Amino acid sequence: MPELSVQNLQKKFGNKVKALDGVSLDVESGEFFVLLGPSGSGKTTLIRCIAGLEMVDSGTITIGNRVVTDFPPGERNVAMVFQNYALYPFLTVYENLAFPLKARGRLAKSLREKSLDGNASKLGSVLGFGPVNRQTLKKDIDDRVHRVAKMLQIDELLDRKPGEISGGQRQRVALGRALIRDASVYLMDEPLSNLDAKLRASTRIELKHLQKELGITVVYVTHDQVEAMTMGDRIGVINGGKLIQIGKPHDVYNLPEDLFVASFLGDPPINLIEAQVSADDDSSIEFGGYRLTLPGDPRLSSFRGKILKLGVRPEDVTLSSDGAKATVQLTRSIGRTNYVSMLLTETQEAVTKVTTEAVNLKDGQTVNILPNTGTLDIFESDTQKLVWSSKKK
Ligand SMILES: Nc1ncnc2c1ncn2[C@@H]1O[C@H](COP(=O)(O)OP(=O)(O)OP(=O)(O)O)[C@@H](O)[C@H]1O
Ligand SMILES: [Mg+2]
Repeated sequence: MPELSVQNLQKKFGNKVKALDGVSLDVESGEFFVLLGPSGSGKTTLIRCIAGLEMVDSGTITIGNRVVTDFPPGERNVAMVFQNYALYPFLTVYENLAFPLKARGRLAKSLREKSLDGNASKLGSVLGFGPVNRQTLKKDIDDRVHRVAKMLQIDELLDRKPGEISGGQRQRVALGRALIRDASVYLMDEPLSNLDAKLRASTRIELKHLQKELGITVVYVTHDQVEAMTMGDRIGVINGGKLIQIGKPHDVYNLPEDLFVASFLGDPPINLIEAQVSADDDSSIEFGGYRLTLPGDPRLSSFRGKILKLGVRPEDVTLSSDGAKATVQLTRSIGRTNYVSMLLTETQEAVTKVTTEAVNLKDGQTVNILPNTGTLDIFESDTQKLVWSSKKK
């Protein structure tokens, strides 16, 4: 049974903005699930609905084995890192980190005091509070604060106030404040966006490591595809309030179900080249003035004569003695990776090639390019859907 299950969520803001449009999603216990999408696609809205900070118009949210759709945030047992995190400015870093645990202690105490009330003690056990002893609580809080602070490299800052640390450090305190709690699901909204590139890369690894070690269930929001590919056990790609594709990073990258997913994942992005299936023969396709023979495939026969989009990843563009003619615009290298930007001579479409092999090309030079036919994707222009892939038998 999944730890978090979201079924057919609908959420509108006012009459016009459909922020979530039928979102369904299951996240398994211990899974690191990444929600990936562009700005305005509904990522924050979705996790705010899961946290109970927004009420949904329809649909159900189940956490653990409880349907929590109508529960207030405090009863959902989720911990959240906000996109616009806010720390308590008058508390030190230590006190900010300890705050959720102290709040838990206070709630447990008040539940104990009301222990004659059957509902309150039931709530206590649902929230996972055992009997709380003041001394052990204090030590437990202290241990956890130091452990989380060390992991996030903020252990030197525990005595400072948020106004006395950097933006990236504040963001790590906000992350720590969520991780310090026991929760069924941890919801993280772009929690690393304020860190510099190097710290971001190392914190990603630390966070992923910690998540696996603790076995916690995470829904992690990002618009950064590299973050999604490197951290996610699975990725859900969201656009316009709809979850378009869910899968393992490798599968979503290799078999994108539509043009949006294909273009959103990959840097440089996938090359999309106009192509026409031959009218008389469904095993060849023309692009850039070149006729490419594909392994004969009856799946292409319904597209005879049709204009489609050929999707070729930059790493799958090869230079050859045969192929579509193209002019080299620019070559550049970053470390050992070489990027070649070209224009197809016949159609003036841009094509990028990426390789770690040496390239010896001059700007303006004419070359012939061929896609790797083992990794070709073909999309229908009007529906934007993948209609053929050489990776899919
Ligand atoms: N409180 C609100 N009132 C009205 N519209 C809203 C509200 N919150 C979000 N929206 C709209 O809902 C849509 C989804 O917004 P959301 O914040 O979920 O996007 P996002 O994917 O988190 O984007 P970003 O990457 O920029 O944070 C957007 O069109 C946004 O303008
Ligand atoms: Mg957002």
